[in-house]
Amino acid sequence: MDFDKLIASMTLRQKAAQLTQFGAQLLDDPDHPDITGAAGYLDVTEDDLRLCGSVFNTSGPEARIHIQDAHLAGDPNKIPLVFMQDVIHGLRTIYPIPLAMAASFDPALVEELAHMAADEASAAGVDVAFSPMVDMSRDARWGRVMEGGGEDVHLNCVMAAAQVKGYAAGGMDSCVKHYACYGAGEAGRDYNTVDMSEARLREHYLPAYKAALDAGAGSIMPSFNSMNGVPSIANKLLMNKILRDEWQFDGLVVSDYGAVAELINHGAAADEADAAQLAIEAGCDLEMMSPCYVHALEKLLEEGRITMAQIDARVLAVLRYKEKLGLFENPHGRTDARKYAEVCLSPAHREKARRAAEQTAVLLKNDGVLPLSDKAKKIAVIGPFADDGMSMGFWALNGKTEETVTMLQGIRDRLPDAEIRTCAGCSGDLQTSDLSGIAEAAEMAAWADQVILVLGESGNHTGEGQSRAKLELSEAQMALLRAVNAKCAKTAVLLMCGRPLAIPDMDREAHAILCMWQPGTEGGHAAARLLYGDVCPCGHLPMTFPHTTGQEPISYDMYATGRMPADPFHSENQPYSSRWMDTPVMPLYPFGHGLTYTTFELKDAKLSADTLTANGKLDAVVTLCNTGSREAAAVVQLYIRDCVGSMVRPLRELKDFQKITLAPGEETVLHFPITEPMLRFQTLTEGYASEPGKFEVMMALDAWGGDKLSFTLTK
Ligand code: NOJ
Repeated sequence: MDFDKLIASMTLRQKAAQLTQFGAQLLDDPDHPDITGAAGYLDVTEDDLRLCGSVFNTSGPEARIHIQDAHLAGDPNKIPLVFMQDVIHGLRTIYPIPLAMAASFDPALVEELAHMAADEASAAGVDVAFSPMVDMSRDARWGRVMEGGGEDVHLNCVMAAAQVKGYAAGGMDSCVKHYACYGAGEAGRDYNTVDMSEARLREHYLPAYKAALDAGAGSIMPSFNSMNGVPSIANKLLMNKILRDEWQFDGLVVSDYGAVAELINHGAAADEADAAQLAIEAGCDLEMMSPCYVHALEKLLEEGRITMAQIDARVLAVLRYKEKLGLFENPHGRTDARKYAEVCLSPAHREKARRAAEQTAVLLKNDGVLPLSDKAKKIAVIGPFADDGMSMGFWALNGKTEETVTMLQGIRDRLPDAEIRTCAGCSGDLQTSDLSGIAEAAEMAAWADQVILVLGESGNHTGEGQSRAKLELSEAQMALLRAVNAKCAKTAVLLMCGRPLAIPDMDREAHAILCMWQPGTEGGHAAARLLYGDVCPCGHLPMTFPHTTGQEPISYDMYATGRMPADPFHSENQPYSSRWMDTPVMPLYPFGHGLTYTTFELKDAKLSADTLTANGKLDAVVTLCNTGSREAAAVVQLYIRDCVGSMVRPLRELKDFQKITLAPGEETVLHFPITEPMLRFQTLTEGYASEPGKFEVMMALDAWGGDKLSFTLTK
């Protein structure tokens, strides 16, 4: 299409509207009650709405078609709307939260489930998902860790790419978010400020955004936070230098919700005109749910603060993006009401969601209680989350709690002949002090042959705006665990959570802990199959579980200090070392941890050579043996340490992993190729490069394990 001609024919008002995105609720009700109601603050006109460029969060195929048709009928330029939506872990068939999906260490599974989400969403009329969220985070206090791939750079990159590919296979583009460093907010408080060195920015935080773009994501959403004093939407280092100059990004930039106007709250802009100017200068194409472009572009032009060429560049980016998505030829995209009705919650999609929930559960502890016998006749399923449909997790906009198989329902379906009793025991509120239900729970535990406790946090306790200053279980939940334990020999806990929790007491009291995260629509069926041994757990932690909140932020790839404690597991007694006086340096469960119903051993670890050249390759080799009695999958993790660097290096960094299923008694030899690019980092003076010298290699089943091998990188 001749976009230059089209842009030349557009009025300024039409251009400003084209650069604006509104929530669908403002467009699909002919009376727009929200403009004068909840969204009255936007102070936009009917015309702004009628001419706007994009819509987010529509309610289904009919709404999409209605909104698009009405828009095209009223837009003199006949520019179709692009429809975007938060499709985070499924549309209607909800699979485990993204943090759980990362625990699968299985990019093929993640891609398959993203494809499934896109099949439902594109039929519903979604052109672009506001996903993947790839904000690496080491702070479990931040509620949005549930949306990302956890604390590791490599794992985040792998999961980011897998999601983008899966969405594309289902006909939906990705808007990768939130660029950048949103997961590094101080003290884990949402939207909080970030102070970031260039080394950490480039080594830790940027790679996953880049991985998503390299995998084909066509758009990107700058984050709410400020970084080094500048909010992302106005951050020229992030937006112009890195994104556009270095990475050559030529896709679409979509602001986060109200983020352009929030420049005023940040104190980075005095008024809407200032905010619009900053956002235009940083290349923000679509302004989501704030009216700065609509209100202020004219004034900015009149005052000579921006040029028409700057505005036209943004309009061109929007038009090109719509063209790339094929919307000019086919304004309804893949919207298909019949397909939508067919695929949403279809048996095939439910089966995929169940399989994903099975593959993402992490067995944190097992004193031999699990798997449970399915011959039990009297079963108690106790706890505030036993029958909680919010186990589908946060950010499941089209998911329904009543369509979600709860833990209780899953166990009932698995053991239809058993007598199953249930009670909450206490409320799941974070602050509850009501212990009145605990006596009933203890009595039920005394009656039962098997007790399954469902503890943790609700799906509503994680996600946007859900930061916590305390990661410990509530006193009521702990009292419930103790009371139940006193009445039964062995307690298995299903841990529901959207982030690592600080559960050392649970680790002491419970005989088994199976972390189900927030497992989605089919979570209950998956939990029952895992509990009763139909399948073996095979998830591994994508984030460290601390002993106490005070250890946060924490991650396995900590940096060396001048005074590392000799024994970091008992560092409380080592004064003047880099430690805490009341808690070990090491966490409760490390990154990469995950047990199963068999045992695995690694042996015969070796390197194919003791030197590596710049263009060369060496192989790290190890034999994995299933030494137990069940077929199961192990995740073998390759860690590397750069022993001496111009910048202090982490004690180990994950560089690769393989997930392998072995029969009992079976063994296999694994090869991990190591090449020079894997050793690069942000050096003191040479940019992103490797430095010759000694490297250690550990192949392990978690971030604590592995014999040390070493090689030398030569020039
Ligand atoms: C705000 C969130 O930060 C972002 O992730 C989401 O995509 C938008 N709202 C739209 O819902």
